[in-house]
Amino acid sequence: MKPITPKNIIAISGSTRKNSTNHQLIKAIGELSKDIFEITTFEGLLDLPAFNPEESFENTPAKVLDFRTLLYTADGILICTPEYAHGVPGILKNAIDWTVSSAEFSNKPTVLITASTEGKYGHEALLETLKVIEAKNIEHLQLLIPFAKTKINAEGQITDEKTLEEIKKLILSFKHTINE
Ligand SMILES: Cc1cc2nc3c(=O)[nH]c(=O)nc-3n(C[C@H](O)[C@H](O)[C@H](O)COP(=O)(O)O)c2cc1C
Repeated sequence: MKPITPKNIIAISGSTRKNSTNHQLIKAIGELSKDIFEITTFEGLLDLPAFNPEESFENTPAKVLDFRTLLYTADGILICTPEYAHGVPGILKNAIDWTVSSAEFSNKPTVLITASTEGKYGHEALLETLKVIEAKNIEHLQLLIPFAKTKINAEGQITDEKTLEEIKKLILSFKHTINE
């Protein structure tokens, strides 16, 4: 039988903390989906310059062009993020703003997980952004994980049964959306 080539997924964490729950969550999803996805985490959020619409088409910074290429060539995008002050972390929104005119998210299977203490405001706001930039099937590929630190441990394991089931379902829906 022909071996199945894993789908190439770019993961973006909205947290820059070394011991971030969102990093651990990406690790957990990588482990749970290792037969179907090859997940690479984009580590360059802090290196992207502040968004400038005047540089979106011309004189676009090289790091932004590289970021756009990574997204464009990926089979899917996985975003895991905390909420800050009832909003989306600035570095994450900044990165997404660089893609609005160039449309890398358009029709791209994208998962949004907000793993935070509460998280609903940031989650709703980012969901709305991803809808307007046409991320594929985003309405169904999203999950809010409140009290995330009590559900995902430092070893990258999801210790809460309900969350584990939700993540497994999300992985399957992601796979189906990519294969559509
Ligand atoms: C400046 C700041 C503001 C925060 N504001 C919120 C907030 O509005 N809502 C929330 O759910 N958590 C808030 N938090 C808590 C973090 O988002 C939460 O601890 C999250 O789990 C951290 O994710 P990480 O472990 O991936 O870094 C805030 C944390 C910081 C540092």
